[in-house]
Amino acid sequence: MRVLLIGTGGREHAIAAALAADPAVTALICAPGNPGMAALGTLADVDPVDPGAVAALAVELGADLVVVGPEAPLVAGVADAVRAKGIPCFGPSQAAAQLEGSKAFAKDVMRAAGVPTARSFVCTTPDEVAAALDEFGPPYVVKDDGLAAGKGVVVTEDRAEALAHGAACGRVVVEEYLAGPEVSLFVVTDGVSAVPLQPAQDFKRIFDGDQGPNTGGMGAYSPLPWAPPDLVEEVMARVVQPTLAEMRRRDAQFNGTLYVGLALTADGPKVIEFNCRFGDPETQAVLARLETPLAGVLHAAAVGRLAEDPPLAWRSGAAVCVVMASAGYPASASRGDVITGADDVPGVLHAGTARRADGALVTAGGRVLTCTALGETLAEARDAAYELVRGIAFDGAQFRTDIARAAIDGNISVP
Ligand code: AMP
Ligand code: GLY
Repeated sequence: MRVLLIGTGGREHAIAAALAADPAVTALICAPGNPGMAALGTLADVDPVDPGAVAALAVELGADLVVVGPEAPLVAGVADAVRAKGIPCFGPSQAAAQLEGSKAFAKDVMRAAGVPTARSFVCTTPDEVAAALDEFGPPYVVKDDGLAAGKGVVVTEDRAEALAHGAACGRVVVEEYLAGPEVSLFVVTDGVSAVPLQPAQDFKRIFDGDQGPNTGGMGAYSPLPWAPPDLVEEVMARVVQPTLAEMRRRDAQFNGTLYVGLALTADGPKVIEFNCRFGDPETQAVLARLETPLAGVLHAAAVGRLAEDPPLAWRSGAAVCVVMASAGYPASASRGDVITGADDVPGVLHAGTARRADGALVTAGGRVLTCTALGETLAEARDAAYELVRGIAFDGAQFRTDIARAAIDGNISVP
């Protein structure tokens, strides 16, 4: 199978590693890719959000499967353009990607499907935002309606900050605050059959102790020792199946990864958000433990034959990943800082890295690398991930030191 993978991040490096390890994959082309992915396959240059260009590249390469990593190409219609050429594509259509592309659309689908989620209002004027904030009270949750690379959400006790975010975004969703530990569950689906991966937890804030602004994600671990044993089954029945049915009813069948972001509240699991692709960095932790060859699973989903596949197999133990970000992240990103210790190190997955003309590896984005490690226990996996972090250096490197610590210490409880 010749596979074309679209994307450049740590998530795509993890997907590329899993695809490259699948004996069914005879060629792996990553576009645009990154210096880490260059070690696993060929890199091709393409504008990932240009549907015509991606489809033409897939034809030119004779791809048997196109896998789209990030949300922006999906929301731009890349999967539709690839399928129009008769090539199987793992990733939802533009219409189905609205589950992530518009928070208001996602809320409407959840309401129609009876999916448990936070109560919310869609607001377009400062007066509407103010009224919605006062309806729910603090902590205030204000979400940009459109794509914002994980940075469109403000959760704050400060009413003025909440109002300012509303004014800056234009159209926003204001919703009730959900208290309880968060879970990321990725579900691979062909739109009818759906296969859950193992749940993970992400760390959204930039600083230890969940302080500072939201980021794209600063680390993750999987599985979740504290999660209720029936969690996945309950989410499949109460969230995933009704959502997929509602999408089919809207003629927007969802094919790809449905990412369910949940809060485990005192009233049960509630959806915080849907995304239309694998999460970053949770994917780095989740795929590290997947034993089933990945290309076969994604191809089956792409061609609507997921029901024929055997159940997924998982390695025992746990996986932890720690993101290293460049100076200034998340407000900005520092470029050109020389990185040492990160070339061809197993478990070090590249994101915002670039190769300088002289061959040096340098920073080229906000999230630079993810250090991912396995262990028989969560504590062993965590130690191994931080061991990888200690081997890497660049000016201004930022990383959290508390990834997976509360879970190891038994300090996470479900209300
Ligand atoms: P989102 O982009 O929707 O995942 O939001 C980013 C982060 O903001 C989430 O991972 C949560 O930590 C937080 N968040 C979003 N919505 C809520 C909510 N209704 N209640 C509490 N926290 C939330
Ligand atoms: N880790 C959160 C996301 O991928 O949106």
